Amino acid sequence: MALTNCNISVAIVYASVSGNTKELAEELYQIFLGESVNISIYSINEFSLEDLSQYKAVAIGTYTWGNGEIPREMRHLYQAFESIMRKDITTAVFGTGDSCYPMFCGAVDQFRDMLYVHTNLAATLKVELLPQEQDIKRCRKFVEILLLRASMENLVM
Ligand SMILES: Cc1cc2nc3c(=O)[nH]c(=O)nc-3n(C[C@H](O)[C@H](O)[C@H](O)COP(=O)(O)O)c2cc1C
Repeated sequence: MALTNCNISVAIVYASVSGNTKELAEELYQIFLGESVNISIYSINEFSLEDLSQYKAVAIGTYTWGNGEIPREMRHLYQAFESIMRKDITTAVFGTGDSCYPMFCGAVDQFRDMLYVHTNLAATLKVELLPQEQDIKRCRKFVEILLLRASMENLVM
């Protein structure tokens, strides 16, 4: 069932080294494809920050590095959002991590805290390493909440 008929533009922008976050991003992309939205997916290296304002909603995907840190290649995206105040852009952040580390998916937490202040943050999703069957339901929920929030924002504007 389509969650919205608003035909909003959504971008997934992700970073991945060993493929776990890419897999999660692609799973989310497949779910978005079943909805009435214009969905695009970019690895961070393909994404131009100048295009940020073209999107009504952005789902950011990141792995975690160091001790709960945002990977270097994601920092310019973090800073771009940090430098604006755009409550009209609905955001969500997802990521994969390894719970052996004390700050599980710490990069997701850092993005979440910043996006909450600077954008209309809708949802977060943390997955242990490679997404498994049991994560699919959580992925669907993530997409559902993001689209509901973005379409509510559409009604307000
Ligand atoms: C040096 C190093 C540091 C890491 N630090 C963390 C961490 O602090 N917290 C965490 O949850 N995962 C940590 N991880 C695990 C990765 O975030 C995890 O393997 C992730 O799924 C990798 O994503 P990717 O396959 O998309 O590159 C670390 C991995 C490495 C190699």
